[in-house]
Amino acid sequence: METKVLQPNKDSLELCKELILSGEVVAIPTETVYGLGANAFNEDAVAKIYEAKGRPSDNPLIVHIADKTDVARVAREIPPLAQRVIDKFMPGSVTIVLPKQKTVPDRVTGGLDTVAVRMPAHEVALEFIRTCGVPICAPSANTSTKPSPTTATHVFDDLNGKIPAILDGGDCGVGVESTVIDFVTGKPRLLRAGGMPLEVLEREIGEIVREVKSAKPLCPGMKYKHYSPDASVTVFLPGNGKTERIISRYDEFASQGKKVIILALDDNAPKYGDRMVFSMGVDDKSYAKRLFSALRDADKKGYDAVLCEGLPERGYGLSVMNRLLKAAAGKVE
Ligand code: TXA
Ligand code: MG
Repeated sequence: METKVLQPNKDSLELCKELILSGEVVAIPTETVYGLGANAFNEDAVAKIYEAKGRPSDNPLIVHIADKTDVARVAREIPPLAQRVIDKFMPGSVTIVLPKQKTVPDRVTGGLDTVAVRMPAHEVALEFIRTCGVPICAPSANTSTKPSPTTATHVFDDLNGKIPAILDGGDCGVGVESTVIDFVTGKPRLLRAGGMPLEVLEREIGEIVREVKSAKPLCPGMKYKHYSPDASVTVFLPGNGKTERIISRYDEFASQGKKVIILALDDNAPKYGDRMVFSMGVDDKSYAKRLFSALRDADKKGYDAVLCEGLPERGYGLSVMNRLLKAAAGKVE
């Protein structure tokens, strides 16, 4: 199959609509990461998402809408705090989990009685959903276990030949996936840290439960390997001479003939001297925006090891650390 990369305009949106309504998948930009979308009410189309990504089919998908009132098309009940999130933060980088309508196929929700809903804050995504006229379910448009895509090129690198079209909406502004909050089990509960800082949500709806102490993963996505580039990733926790620890590990790897790169904030970059550094910008927000791109770049440029400055777990730092720790699969120093 030839994969077309489309610039967003009236004609390409019409073509996307034809594809979606005929049961095909299309990759679309959102402000967080690119998604691989299908008509949420068409089970066969949804199956194609799992196939293209190579994703386990018990991992449920987020349903994307273009109008707040469409939450009721997929959810049968909206608790008051969830309604506050809808009123205040949609469109935005937050996903809410609610009891589902019967009409939402099991394939979308992985057989759960709940559905995850989000309204992306991206004009091209919204125009695409409006043009199609149906809710669009979409996971991140990467091959399963790879870092999520934040450019159309990332999607092409993973899915060329496997999907008919990619709608190119430029670089994603947020760069990490949405924050997922569960409103089904009483107090709002964090299922996945992401593009909307928890502190921002908590100012509006009060405490969000963070401890997820359960043998059974609450959010099916949590049990899978994630964000793994081919290079080995190590995270260095903040404090205790972090820079010196990174330098000493870098020099050790380099002396073994490994090609090493450091992910560092701009303020720290000069401390690494001549060593190779990817700039993660000025703060936790820019670090989040550049993270997946940096991990993909490390593979493209043939690095063997990526040494990452860890961040304090607040603001965007929480979602950056969540992604880094998964990418590092236990290599934390
Ligand atoms: O920003 C995003 O959220 C991106 C863009 C494309 O919107 N999408 C995304 O989708 O990251 P995905 O499929 O990669 O991640 C969805 C997460 C998974 O961890 C999944 O387990 C969880 O949401 N999820 C989906 N439906 C759920 C449900 N009914 N109950 C609990 N967790 C759910
Ligand atoms: Mg994903």
